[in-house]
Amino acid sequence: MSQSGTVRPIALVTGASRGIGAGIAQKLGTLGFHVMVNYVSNEAKAQEVCAAITAAGGSAEPMRFDVSSEAEIVSAFDTLAKKGALEVLVNNAGISEDGLILRMKKETLDRTLQTNLVSAVITSREAAKLMMRARRGSIINITSVVGEMGNAGQVAYAAAKAGLHGLTKSLAKELASRSIRVNAVAPGYIETDMTGALTDVQKKSITDNIPLGSLGTPQDVAEIVGFLSTNGSRYITGQIIGVNGGLYI
Ligand SMILES: NC(=O)c1ccc[n+]([C@@H]2O[C@H](COP(=O)([O-])OP(=O)(O)OC[C@H]3O[C@@H](n4cnc5c(N)ncnc54)[C@H](OP(=O)(O)O)[C@@H]3O)[C@@H](O)[C@H]2O)c1
Repeated sequence: MSQSGTVRPIALVTGASRGIGAGIAQKLGTLGFHVMVNYVSNEAKAQEVCAAITAAGGSAEPMRFDVSSEAEIVSAFDTLAKKGALEVLVNNAGISEDGLILRMKKETLDRTLQTNLVSAVITSREAAKLMMRARRGSIINITSVVGEMGNAGQVAYAAAKAGLHGLTKSLAKELASRSIRVNAVAPGYIETDMTGALTDVQKKSITDNIPLGSLGTPQDVAEIVGFLSTNGSRYITGQIIGVNGGLYI
């Protein structure tokens, strides 16, 4: 229950303890959702995100599950179903393990596809069960510019992200008759732990190719996810929306 006594619709953001997911969770907190802040290992960070949402007048709670485990996802959704109406699912959790194809290990490929792609199919299946009953909902997949334009050294990651684009378009067609919308947001280079390992030289060479001249922030991505989560985007489904400073046009 919110302070005003109304029940808030639920938004689940996977991988919300840090980076882009944390920014999305905070944005959805300002939009009146009760935000489930998912994490896998970083409980303290997830608690910090919840505290920030609450301090801003929102409502949130941490929720641990590993998106690469079907059993953990199913159990988390059982818990969610008892909490209230799931209105928004943001499939944000992801990992990137770079490497050239000649050195690609099958375990790396499996882990990357499982965490970035298979996870989103399973969470979407579980969310659809809840949203179809309510005949409303918005599923948003956080993909990547790399899934559209490719990148040497990121074959597994790019394949996973391109797969999410196929998932987005197919699921949008499958669920539209139930008023459930499915979209993807494809960030370019965003300042987070994931890009933290880039050297200044690498960042400069990336920035030189970005028409708007800088890396993005988690808030840049959160703004569009906020829009896709609410009724202002009621006629938008099956779209891939780039947030990349013009890197891919
Ligand atoms: N940063 C970029 O430039 C960029 C660009 C394009 C797309 N993206 C995509 O945006 C998403 C977020 O990226 P980011 O840069 O914010 O990443 P990040 O800073 O590395 O944070 C990753 C988040 O995912 C969670 N996570 C990782 N594995 C998980 C699992 N198995 N189960 C549940 N949660 C898991 C982490 O939780 P813990 O804290 O518990 O570990 C953390 O909250 C990813 O899908 C990424 O591919 C990022």
